Amino acid sequence: MKKVVSTRQLPYSNQPFQLETLEFGRAPTHSEILNTAKEAWALVTTLEDKINQELLKELPNLKAIAQFAVGTNNIDLDYCRAHNIIVTNTPDVLTEATAELTFALMLNCARQIHRAAPDVSTGKWIGWEPMGHLGIALKNKKLGIVGAGRIGQRIAEMARGAFDMQILYHNRKAHLDFEKKNQATLLSLHELLKESDVIVLMTPLTPETRSLINQKELLLMKKDAILINTSRGEIMNQEDLIDVLKKDHLFAVGLDVTTPEPLPQNSPLNSIERVLITPHIGSATREARAQMAQLCFDNLERIAKDLKPLTPVS
Ligand code: DGY
Repeated sequence: MKKVVSTRQLPYSNQPFQLETLEFGRAPTHSEILNTAKEAWALVTTLEDKINQELLKELPNLKAIAQFAVGTNNIDLDYCRAHNIIVTNTPDVLTEATAELTFALMLNCARQIHRAAPDVSTGKWIGWEPMGHLGIALKNKKLGIVGAGRIGQRIAEMARGAFDMQILYHNRKAHLDFEKKNQATLLSLHELLKESDVIVLMTPLTPETRSLINQKELLLMKKDAILINTSRGEIMNQEDLIDVLKKDHLFAVGLDVTTPEPLPQNSPLNSIERVLITPHIGSATREARAQMAQLCFDNLERIAKDLKPLTPVS
């Protein structure tokens, strides 16, 4: 039976491999992976695992890596390609969950729920006020999506359907069907940042998108813009974000991703009230996580039978 090592406990048990699970409850270190995976045929990995050349060189039997995520920026894909290690990921099954979380952050930022709710539990709220707890409406506002892949496109549909938002997007290539269906307009990054009321960063982390958003880009955004990042922290220069927030720029920021993760408790971002940070829970619904695990094993089963996996990383 082929040996598969999963670096984390997964919500799935029905699979035909000799499965060994690393149960540290955190990302295992290089040597913790090696101790168990030396002879492994495949790994199931998460976005926190550093699957770099140093590690891969020490796994001579490795034929496949099933990444339990859509992003694969933690894996040395060039090395895998050169050494015929097949890498798969979990697109589609987490689209809905991640789009919903993006919307949850967007609504929270617009209405500042995370600041209003504690006023009740702490007794600070002494009564209804015409000018109290004022947020910003989403209806008819311009939503700028940076990276209109599957999740970005689903966010656009939700925004149109629920809030009649006008969709602007920035992408490497135009998506004509998407434009037609959502009356979306393709803009340069800088035009999009200037025009949008709400900006959502949804682009994968690649050498081109690392630090895509710096001080210059942040200052192009409207003073009252809402900024959401549910992709990868490294897309934005976090120090620059802190600087512009301290200068009272931006209405609110919702981050599901930071640099590093977990964000140190003493990070200045934690004490800026109009910032809401969640612990990278974009795909964290029971439904999505179960499907992600199933997809990892479906892919491995196909690879074991010399079939093309369902979702190879190209
Ligand atoms: C991904 O899939 O890349 C997410 O960030 C984790 O669910």
